[in-house]
Amino acid sequence: MNDLSALPADFVWGAATAAYQIEGAVDEDGRAPSIWDTFSHTPGKIDGDDTGDVACDHYHRTAEDLGLMKTLDLDSYRFSIAWPRVVPQGGGAVNAAGLAFYDRLVDSLLEAGITPNATLYHWDLPQAQQDRGGWPERETAERFGEYAAVVAQALGDRVKDWATLNEPLCSAWIGHLEGTMAPGWTDLTAAVRASYHLHVGHGLAVQALRAAHSDLRIGIVNNLSPCEPATDRDADVAAARRADGHTNRWWLDPIHGRGYPQDMVDLYGVDLPVKDGDLESIAAPLDWLGLNYYFRNVITDDPTGPAPHAKSVYLPGVRRTAMDWEVNADGLEQLLVRLSEEYGASKIFVTENGSAYRDTVGADGQIDDPERTAYLDEHLAACARAVRRGVPLAGYYAWSLLDNFEWAYGYDKRFGLVHVDYTTQKRTIKGSGRRYAEIIAAHRRKARRAA
Ligand code: IFM
Repeated sequence: MNDLSALPADFVWGAATAAYQIEGAVDEDGRAPSIWDTFSHTPGKIDGDDTGDVACDHYHRTAEDLGLMKTLDLDSYRFSIAWPRVVPQGGGAVNAAGLAFYDRLVDSLLEAGITPNATLYHWDLPQAQQDRGGWPERETAERFGEYAAVVAQALGDRVKDWATLNEPLCSAWIGHLEGTMAPGWTDLTAAVRASYHLHVGHGLAVQALRAAHSDLRIGIVNNLSPCEPATDRDADVAAARRADGHTNRWWLDPIHGRGYPQDMVDLYGVDLPVKDGDLESIAAPLDWLGLNYYFRNVITDDPTGPAPHAKSVYLPGVRRTAMDWEVNADGLEQLLVRLSEEYGASKIFVTENGSAYRDTVGADGQIDDPERTAYLDEHLAACARAVRRGVPLAGYYAWSLLDNFEWAYGYDKRFGLVHVDYTTQKRTIKGSGRRYAEIIAAHRRKARRAA
C-alpha cells in the first residue's frame, strides 16, 4: 500500500454521487422534469438512448445504499439535491415531499455517523426554468438563490458542508457551447452568459446559505485540468494558455476576486451582463474549494476550431480509462499545488476523482477491477505528495459510490466502487471498493496510534 502518512489525521474519506445519476423516481412525489429528462428523452442524445428514469433506483433504496457507505466506513457522503424535486417549477411553490426525501437522507446519514456534504446544483435545472430562458438569463440565477434559501432553511440545522455548484464548466461550456450535455446548445454567446449567471447564482446561494445558518462551511466544486502544450511551438504554447483560460482561469479568477480573465473576455467577444455588486458577490469568501480531477489536457493550436481555438491531442502509448481519458495522477498533484500557491486556497477537498473501466462479474459474482484500484492508489498517492508540499487538503471523495447514469454515455461507463446490476438493482462492492475501505481503515489505525 502507498505511503499516505502525510494525509492529516482528520482527513475526510468520502464518496460522491449526483441526484439525476442515481435517484430515478423522476415523476414521484411531485418532482417535475429537469433539462436532463428532456435531453435524455431526445432520441440520439444519449448512448443506447438510456435515461435517468430509474438509474440506480436510489430514491427507493436509500437504506441499502447507506449500508454500503457503512461497510466502506466512509466519513462523509457527497450527494446533490435535485432542484426539480424541491422547487419543481424552478421558482414559486416548494414541494414538501421532495424536501422530505433529503430530510430523511440527512437524518439517516447522521444516525450512521456519516457527515453529509450537499451540492445544490449538479446540472438538473427544472425544465420550466429552462423554458424561461435557463442559465443564459439572470432570472435563473435569482431563482437559484431562492431555491438555495429553501434548502438551507430546511437542512442547514444538520448539513454543515455545502457546495453551491458542481462543475459549472460543464453546464456552460458542454451544455451551451459543445452541445453534448443538456440543454444541448451550441451558441458561444449563450454559453458565456450562462457561465456568468452560474457565478451570479453561486454568489446568491452563498448569501442565502450564510443568512440561514451562520455555521455552514460553504464551497464550490470545479472540474479543472492542467493544459500543457503539445510542443514548444509558440502557437501551441499560446493555445495551451487559452485552453487554461477556458478550463481553469475562467472558473477560478472571478471567485477569487480577480474578475474574469481579460484575455478570455477578448477572445469570446461577448459582453458580460454585469450589474453593480455582482463581482463582489461572486467573490464572497468561501470556506473551502472543491476540485474534481480526472485527466490532463495536452493542447495544440486549432485556429479554425471553436473558442478557445485549441484542442486536445490524443497521446499515443499512455494508459487510458474506458472514457478514453489519460491516466495522469501527477496532474492532480499539480492542480492541488496551484490552488494552494496561486489562488491561496486555505482548505481543499478533492470532491470527485475516479475512473470508468469495463467491469466483468466473475463466476463467483465478484468484480475484480485492478485498473480502477490502481487509479485510486495512484491518485491518493498524488494527494499525499501534494500535502507534503504544503497543500491544505482536507479530504477525498471517490467518484463514485455506485455505477450510475454517466450522462451522454448512459450506463455503459461504470465509475462505481460498487457495481450495480441494472436489471436486478443488485449492488456488489468491487475490488476497488474493498481497497478503499482498507485504505480508510489503515489511515484511521495510524491516526489513532499517533494520537
Ligand atoms: O459523472 C460525472 C459527474 O457527474 C461529474 N464529474 C465527472 C463525472 C465523470 O464523468
